[in-house]
Amino acid sequence: MTDAAKLSIGGKDFDYPVLTGTIGPDVVDIRKMYGQTSAFTYDPGFTSTASCQSTLTYIDGDEGVLLHRGYAIGELAEQSSFMEVAYLLLNGELPTKEELAGFSTTITRHTMVHEQLAAFFRGFRRDAHPMAIMCGVVGALSAFYHDSTDIHDPVQRTIASHRLIAKIPTIAAMAYKYSVGQPFLYPDNSLSYTGNFLRMTFGVPAEPYEVNPVVEKAMDRIFILHADHEQNASTSTVRLAGSSGANPFACIAAGIACLWGPAHGGANEAALNMLREIGTPDRIPEFIARAKDKNDPFRLMGFGHRVYKNYDPRATVMQKTVREVFDSLKVSDPVFETALRLEEIALNDPYFVEKKLFPNVDFYSGIILSAIGFPTEMFTVLFALARTVGWVAQWNEMITDPDQKIGRPRQLYTGPAQRPYVGLDQR
Ligand code: CMC
Repeated sequence: MTDAAKLSIGGKDFDYPVLTGTIGPDVVDIRKMYGQTSAFTYDPGFTSTASCQSTLTYIDGDEGVLLHRGYAIGELAEQSSFMEVAYLLLNGELPTKEELAGFSTTITRHTMVHEQLAAFFRGFRRDAHPMAIMCGVVGALSAFYHDSTDIHDPVQRTIASHRLIAKIPTIAAMAYKYSVGQPFLYPDNSLSYTGNFLRMTFGVPAEPYEVNPVVEKAMDRIFILHADHEQNASTSTVRLAGSSGANPFACIAAGIACLWGPAHGGANEAALNMLREIGTPDRIPEFIARAKDKNDPFRLMGFGHRVYKNYDPRATVMQKTVREVFDSLKVSDPVFETALRLEEIALNDPYFVEKKLFPNVDFYSGIILSAIGFPTEMFTVLFALARTVGWVAQWNEMITDPDQKIGRPRQLYTGPAQRPYVGLDQR
């Protein structure tokens, strides 16, 4: 590409530098544009805007490629562990054996939550959506851990990061336990990160809980697949919240709130609900027709992506994992057949082909999570649990970025121009 981009506006020409990353599209550096031209750029939804530089995650949406620190998601999902990926995202390199052991121990040490936090849960209705609880409780962490909220202190930033990654499974499991009326379980640090989460969720104090290694592996893989995804809506929310200097617990709570929406993390819950509503493959054409109807707000949930215009590489791993979990648990779910058939029909339908709509990570994840025993309301919580690692890594990167400024987009104002106030008796 050229090393400068030219802009003609108001009869004047301006040159803007073109920046090149390691891979991926070049970006036009327009930081000086407003000062020079008095014009803004207009890009609702940031479809053409790079909001930051980042070394964490790379996506090639046309090719269906997702890399964390250069490593392909398929290889990480097959060969790595969630703790390893967390270390990689936070530190930039895969850990040595010693580094991984040290990191796992550190995370393990932070898995308990302040005892007073259990009382905080009691303020919620038992039928509260667990994502509502997550928003509230994670936000409340800043009220419990004052000693790690100074964002200018690198040691406090590290402690807050470790606390968030370690405590989020405990809080997620507590949100579940609260909804089913069972007692909270304390963490068992002899278990893996994922095994411990499964026990805190499905175990009861009255009897021992055995972690099923296949379920543990599948869950760990699901966590890897959700660990980070570049500058998506919730990550951008975390960065934007953090750009004002807000503490990390508040920033991650903001990310959880954004993730909840059905266009983002809420899609896994919506996708399984949709598949169950479709029920049997013979009803698929009816739903495909609705998805294509411009007058119907219905969309095929778990389909389409802002960045992927090809098969989401995470969906490939997810589909394979469904089979493994079904085989191991000796269960099946007719919804899987419906999902496979729906995928096949949609991928051969001109509407979906032309718009490049493929299954995304959420299309198959709900089927596995349901087989493991999670109710649909917990699906987005599990996404939040795994994505906390990515949010924390992105937040740390932002804080140490010398180009970082408070995020403050501008607008194209289309309201009334200035006009005189009209007194109440004259209106
Ligand atoms: N079903 C039917 N039509 C769709 C779908 C869908 N799932 N997704 C996009 N389209 C159509 C849309 O109507 C539009 O058509 P037209 O150009 O005629 O107006 C076109 O495709 C482009 O859609 P868009 O909404 O402009 O694209 P976007 O990049 O703004 O939205 C998306 C991306 C993920 C929000 C959208 O594809 C969607 O709503 N999918 C369903 C929800 C979902 O599965 N979300 C999970 C995303 S992956 C996990 C995550 O990142 O959280």
